Amino acid sequence: MTISPNIDPRGDGFTLSDQDFEAIASFAYKHFGLAMSSSKKPLVSSRLSRKLRKQNITVFKDYLKSLDGPNAEAERSELLSLLTTNVTQFFREPHHFETLRNDVLPPLIAQAKRGGRVRIWSAGCSIGQEPYTIASVLHDLCPDAEKMDIKILGTDIDPVVVQKAQAAEYPREDFDGVPKQSRFNLEPGSRPDMARVPQHLRAKCTFGVLNLIQPFPFNGKFDAIFCRNVAIYFDNPTQQKVWQAFQRVLNPGGYLFIGHSERMSGPASQFLTPAGITTYVNSPN
Ligand SMILES: C[S@@+](CC[C@H](N)C(=O)[O-])C[C@H]1O[C@@H](n2cnc3c(N)ncnc32)[C@H](O)[C@@H]1O
Repeated sequence: MTISPNIDPRGDGFTLSDQDFEAIASFAYKHFGLAMSSSKKPLVSSRLSRKLRKQNITVFKDYLKSLDGPNAEAERSELLSLLTTNVTQFFREPHHFETLRNDVLPPLIAQAKRGGRVRIWSAGCSIGQEPYTIASVLHDLCPDAEKMDIKILGTDIDPVVVQKAQAAEYPREDFDGVPKQSRFNLEPGSRPDMARVPQHLRAKCTFGVLNLIQPFPFNGKFDAIFCRNVAIYFDNPTQQKVWQAFQRVLNPGGYLFIGHSERMSGPASQFLTPAGITTYVNSPN
């Protein structure tokens, strides 16, 4: 038997050479905006080795080719899942939803009652618990929201999580994080241990695949953007570009919420002024 240069003769499976790691890191940077330092190499190596063993791929170049091959979308999505986490939960970082409830939504609901349009974006929404949380706070404040022009858009770069977000079905225990005041009746899921977000909240949310490092395809502007625990994967220049892109699609007075370990920086900070913990208001001159 010939041993491929990528097969570890000690039997641990696949090992990533420095060159292989560089190839993956530059692919991830170019296509997803992910910045991966060499400290990530052991993690990437162990995660990829499991996958490549399963698929009987022994030469790393063959794997790289598959990222541009006929099954590229699925392969890229799987790579992205290996390199990032989709962890999310209902009412994660709850202070943001207090600001949404107390400061952001009341004037927007008044605007919608007068016939105005309200748009909220959950960018990097993973499997959808963030946009459904926004919908649930909206419904608490305005049970009639269904009849108004208020929409919540959830997007993620990964088509697999976007599909899960659309399905709106989660393990029953995931709903334990919903505070009493916002508890909604669940619809039955496809299995007894799963449950579905109810129709009136689903109806307020639409979903799509969108890569934040590419130009945004929107015509209109947003009144609030949640982009939490996503920019953490980007380097500083990419973060600054993304903050600027958000600022451009936010209405004056619109809010941007970012993750607990993320910071506003660069030219956008001239306009996005702090309004609470990791919360910014767009104040263009
Ligand atoms: C940890 S989850 C955050 C989910 C949610 N925002 C929250 O805070 O609970 C990070 C998400 O960012 C997405 N992501 C990573 N890079 C992205 C990019 N370039 N464009 C859009 N989404 C991206 C991942 O697919 C993942 O679903």
